[in-house]
Amino acid sequence: MTKRISLNAFDMTCPSHQSPGLWRHPANRADQYNSLEYWTDLAQTLERGKFDSLFLADVLGIYDVYKNSSAPALRDADQLPLNDPFFQIPAMAAVTKNLGFAVTSALTYEQPYALARKFSTLDHLTRGRVGWNVVTSYLESAARNLGRTEQLGHDQRYDLAEEFLDVTYKLWEGSWEDGAVIKDRANGIFTDPSKVHPINHAGEYFNVPGIHLSEPSPQRSPVIFQAGASPRGREFSAKHGEGVFINGIRPDLTRSATDDIRDRAERRGRSRDSVKIFSLMTAVVADSDAAAEKLHKEYLSYTSADGALTFYGGWSGLDMSQYDPDEPLKYVDTNAVRSALSIFTKADPTREWTPNDIAHYLGLGGIGPVLVGSPETVADEIERWVDVAGLDGINLAYVVTPGSFESFVDLVVPELQKRGRVWKDYEGSTLREYISGNRHVDADHPAAQYRHAFIGAPSAADTPARIELSEATA
Ligand SMILES: Cc1cc2nc3c(=O)[nH]c(=O)nc-3n(C[C@H](O)[C@H](O)[C@H](O)COP(=O)(O)O)c2cc1C
Repeated sequence: MTKRISLNAFDMTCPSHQSPGLWRHPANRADQYNSLEYWTDLAQTLERGKFDSLFLADVLGIYDVYKNSSAPALRDADQLPLNDPFFQIPAMAAVTKNLGFAVTSALTYEQPYALARKFSTLDHLTRGRVGWNVVTSYLESAARNLGRTEQLGHDQRYDLAEEFLDVTYKLWEGSWEDGAVIKDRANGIFTDPSKVHPINHAGEYFNVPGIHLSEPSPQRSPVIFQAGASPRGREFSAKHGEGVFINGIRPDLTRSATDDIRDRAERRGRSRDSVKIFSLMTAVVADSDAAAEKLHKEYLSYTSADGALTFYGGWSGLDMSQYDPDEPLKYVDTNAVRSALSIFTKADPTREWTPNDIAHYLGLGGIGPVLVGSPETVADEIERWVDVAGLDGINLAYVVTPGSFESFVDLVVPELQKRGRVWKDYEGSTLREYISGNRHVDADHPAAQYRHAFIGAPSAADTPARIELSEATA
């Protein structure tokens, strides 16, 4: 049987996500990112197209590397203004039954105890439809405004992420036993304290001795997504990722990234297909190839080269205004998104990219292909990408929203359904069920070690609330 292609949509709580300058297009409603109606309409459209999830990107900073200034990002609306992505999720959940929500949160600036509760809350309110895109951040501007003078080093951010996840897994999977909440009205017992356990975490970055604040949610741990693609990022994906979002500009080159992530997962004792991989793409679709090409040309006339370099400055960590626009770019280790740099410098030995080439490429759809054509042409291309690159699905960005998503749902989804590549209806009701068939983390996932792990350990019924940290065990 041909493999199902999982559909995920990519958006951000801002007026310009991946196609700089396109907010000006008359059909674009992206500037309504701050209204609930925009989000509830979008969620209903995606559910009509049987999308697994809406992936919400987020950063906690400004793209101010280009020209060493925040002015270009402000003028051009390059991921700015930017709202918090958590708040529209319950509203979208209220108007849908199945659509999942993968929301980004950079753990570098969070506390695991508090963030674990936020995800449990969302998992309750969505009835098990939430995922967390675990990122470590890449903008110096975030660090400067969040209590640091500069970012933690690239690999150290991943070390911190390891411990952060360990704490949240203990809280989600272990702290509350199944059946702890009894709501015994006759005896006045809501929760049985003997079934709730302090996690006693004492580590290098975090001390969390206590119990989780939320009762167990439908999935317990949210589905863990990851989006870093440097070697260290892939190792992290291979260990924790249930879903991985990647960028790629050619399917054959992307294949080496997907094979590498799966090899790494296998070396860690997980099955190759326990990590589902979704690559970024954008579709410009119309009734015929000619009509789509015309639309594509029209879209290109709205792109902003300054906006593209503003994005690339943030992603790569390099100020493109300091480089000769026609001189091929060379790879250097930066403290930002290393994979964003290697894609244009190392991935394809047959091609060199200058800043001008990159600005042109990034005008529409970010670091991913733009598929232009009739529904049949776009479906052919999606199939080719998925099969050649070894993907489990796509991460679909928009040029104009919700128009790009609507045309995809109305034109491309039926074509892919006809070919048996996209499901006709949801199977299951939680996000993890769509991805792995299971409601809870698989046995080979690192969170699973804490499931039932505290049964028999000291509970809230017999431990003093205040314990000395020196008594706590990691
Ligand atoms: C497809 C993709 C999407 C990403 N989305 C986000 C995001 O929304 N927010 C964020 O802070 N980082 C995002 N990142 C950055 C990474 O998660 C990570 O912090 C960064 O890539 C550094 O890791 P790397 O050098 O291992 O690639 C994304 C990366 C990729 C490849």
